[in-house]
Amino acid sequence: MLKYDAPILLVDDEEDILFSYSFALKSAGYKNVTAASGGKKAIEILGQKAFALVVLDLYMPEVDGNDILDFISARYPGTPVVIITAADDSQTAVNCLKKGADDYILKPVDSLRFITTIKNILEKEELKRQVESFSDAAEVSHLKCPDDFGAIVTKESGMYSIFKYIEAVAGGMQPVLICGETGTGKELMAEAVHKASRRKGAFVPVNVADVDDTVFSDTLFGHRKGAFTGADKARRGLLLEASGGTLFLDEVGDISENSQLKLLRFLQEGTFRAIGSDTEEKSDVRIVLATNADLEKKVEAGRFRKDLYYRIAIHKLLLPPLRERKGDIALLFSHFYKLAGKELGTPTKTFEKAAAGVLSSYTFPGNIRELRAIAYDLAARSGDVLSAGDVISYLESTGRSRGAVSSNMPGGAQFTYSGRFPSLKDMENILIDEALKISGGNQSKAASLLGISRQAMNKRVKG
Ligand SMILES: Nc1ncnc2c1ncn2[C@@H]1O[C@H](COP(=O)(O)OP(=O)(O)OP(=O)(O)O)[C@@H](O)[C@H]1O
Ligand SMILES: [Mg+2]
Repeated sequence: MLKYDAPILLVDDEEDILFSYSFALKSAGYKNVTAASGGKKAIEILGQKAFALVVLDLYMPEVDGNDILDFISARYPGTPVVIITAADDSQTAVNCLKKGADDYILKPVDSLRFITTIKNILEKEELKRQVESFSDAAEVSHLKCPDDFGAIVTKESGMYSIFKYIEAVAGGMQPVLICGETGTGKELMAEAVHKASRRKGAFVPVNVADVDDTVFSDTLFGHRKGAFTGADKARRGLLLEASGGTLFLDEVGDISENSQLKLLRFLQEGTFRAIGSDTEEKSDVRIVLATNADLEKKVEAGRFRKDLYYRIAIHKLLLPPLRERKGDIALLFSHFYKLAGKELGTPTKTFEKAAAGVLSSYTFPGNIRELRAIAYDLAARSGDVLSAGDVISYLESTGRSRGAVSSNMPGGAQFTYSGRFPSLKDMENILIDEALKISGGNQSKAASLLGISRQAMNKRVKG
């Protein structure tokens, strides 16, 4: 159903035209119409709030319609824009469509065509929203037990494929290896594996990064009383604590060679010995492991046992970084912002939809943990309504550069930058270095890669 209260912004420098657009829209039932007389006014209004649709006259003194279009696509990506332009200038209108406008109307504006265009766009947007929520529901209904994944906020189909994979392997006893950058939710996913396994015992997490071999053995296998100086009591290791449940070995990529061997033995034989004991013990434990290291690279470099890798990577899953699941950014932001509001005693604080939209242009090296921290901090600092402008200033003031952009170059190469746009000179130096690297320092080869003469190359290297 079409929402007649969707906020619509009309931008034109001629008051009488604005009046006639407003009148036409209101007569057609649209209740929430704002008129901006000129480009400057439009930017001012857009700086304060977002709109469901903007109607924009292209030619205005002061601020040109094109600049406003740029402003909207940077600040409110996805907001539909209808361009109004002179009849003899359809090429400009077409250029605007390329830049992201949704439709254009030629002057003199026919009021029926005007209303139909706006109605169609708003209907399409509404339909898009419905399809999105319908496909979310469809994804959930394909899971046997969606509650197992209830703590993981997502609407990305890639994440649902991971959930389905977990449901398929959770009931078995083979290890599950969860890989992914820091903050991508590996521990949360390990807990979901435990829930989906229906094992009655506990979920016992342990971080084994920077743990030497003695501590590793003591933590996992325990020790007998008197096994070493200071061992005045026996200790039950975590393999026994987690028996009947799941032992989650976090940061497993960093364990020592000896620890790797001991873990391999346990996985192969299912038995272990406490330190100082001759008795073999058994544990009915499911092992789930996580790492943010590239284990395959470590195996190649001889820093991780190949046999252990193949043993633990039988069921391997890779959690995508947040910058590759952009669809989740606004959803997760909303989730954390509400949580923060509750915790800080300000549950009525809200945010403009565009405020969350701004975040999708940030790369989140700390992934979901970083997004969570940003949402909590913004909730603490903001007024009643957090605006897109607040988020932009916050990212800038905390040294987080937005606008990471990448584009394709010939030969499948990728160009990516974030922060300052590189100068031609910067790029020249980067390309020369890269060509020299590829050609093993041979200047003639590097010159032919770059398509310049040997002399020109020589001059550049010296200069
Ligand atoms: N999809 C998600 N929905 C809700 N919260 C999430 C989600 N993913 C991660 N989180 C939250 O983000 C934070 C980081 O997640 P987690 O500790 O699981 O990451 P990690 O991959 O184990 O990170 P590290 O490699 O640094 O240990 C936690 O507070 C977690 O609850
Ligand atoms: Mg972790």
